[in-house]
Amino acid sequence: MIDTIKEHIVQVEKFSATSVQEIESFRIKYLGKKGLLNEFFKEFKNVPNDQKKEFGKTINKLKVLAAEKVSTLKETLEEKGDEKSVNGDLTRPGEPLELGSRHPISIVKNQIIDIFSRIGFNVSEGPEIEDDWHNFTALNLPEHHPARDMQDTFFIQTDPDLLLRTHTSSVQVRYMENNKPPIRTISPGRVYRNEAISARSHCFFHQVEGLYIDKDVSFADLKQTLQFFTTELFGKSKIRLRPSYFPFTEPSAEVDVYWGLETETDYRMTKGTGWLEIMGCGMVDPNVLENCGIDPKEYSGFAFGMGIDRIALLLHQISDIRLLSENDLRFLEQFKSAF
Ligand code: DAH
Repeated sequence: MIDTIKEHIVQVEKFSATSVQEIESFRIKYLGKKGLLNEFFKEFKNVPNDQKKEFGKTINKLKVLAAEKVSTLKETLEEKGDEKSVNGDLTRPGEPLELGSRHPISIVKNQIIDIFSRIGFNVSEGPEIEDDWHNFTALNLPEHHPARDMQDTFFIQTDPDLLLRTHTSSVQVRYMENNKPPIRTISPGRVYRNEAISARSHCFFHQVEGLYIDKDVSFADLKQTLQFFTTELFGKSKIRLRPSYFPFTEPSAEVDVYWGLETETDYRMTKGTGWLEIMGCGMVDPNVLENCGIDPKEYSGFAFGMGIDRIALLLHQISDIRLLSENDLRFLEQFKSAF
């Protein structure tokens, strides 16, 4: 009898199953009410006394093994079943994909590039650490010229000739030095000024410079170009050019776009006038053309420069320019739907 039980122990150890039914019939065979174990227990009283101890041990071993087998087989079957249902359920919601968003400055910069590229402007760039010539002197701002004070400059301490560019107008100089007319280029980039930081101004911000040089370019061409631009970007075509002064253009003007006075915010933004100043512009001064190796008798052109940050604040109703450089995710994530 004890040998039969031992044989069962071997069988139980070997047993494996691929379905619930198989496990269940295994359980009934050994552990059921009328199962083998109960039968062996019934035999116990007929076993001679000197064998009782070993007999009892062996039956118990079989019982423990059979019970363990049932539970481990059930577990593995359940795990497999889970995997199957996870991979197989096509209606399950997808894994959330973390999408980034473009920075509002990049969004507006790309819009501006897109608009000007449609009328034949390419994109050019220059260095943020600039020399005196490209940032000032070539642009008709010689040393000691009072107009240099219009832009508080960060100088590089180790070299008095180097500075952080105060405007992207430096790129028009570089572009004219290296390219022959006709020239149609816009130059976006970061600029720096030694100014107190507040909700309205920062010590670094972004500009786009525009330059158009060819034969017979006139002020009317400038105005048409700007009108096309404001219509495309703001959906507003009413602009006005106010006489102004920039050393590198003559005549110079400031451009206002008629924003309107439809809401409270419009009143606040335009100080009740409906007009918003968006950029500076003018006909490139003949001195500047000459400084850059272009003959002013043969060629003329216009230039303009605007602040990207201010336009981004305007278009996206952002109340504080500092938000643009703080990298607060709660702010940045709001631009996910923009392109
Ligand atoms: N550089 C000027 C500034 O930073 C903006 C500007 C005005 C650029 C007139 C121009 C221009 O090209 O013609 O304030």
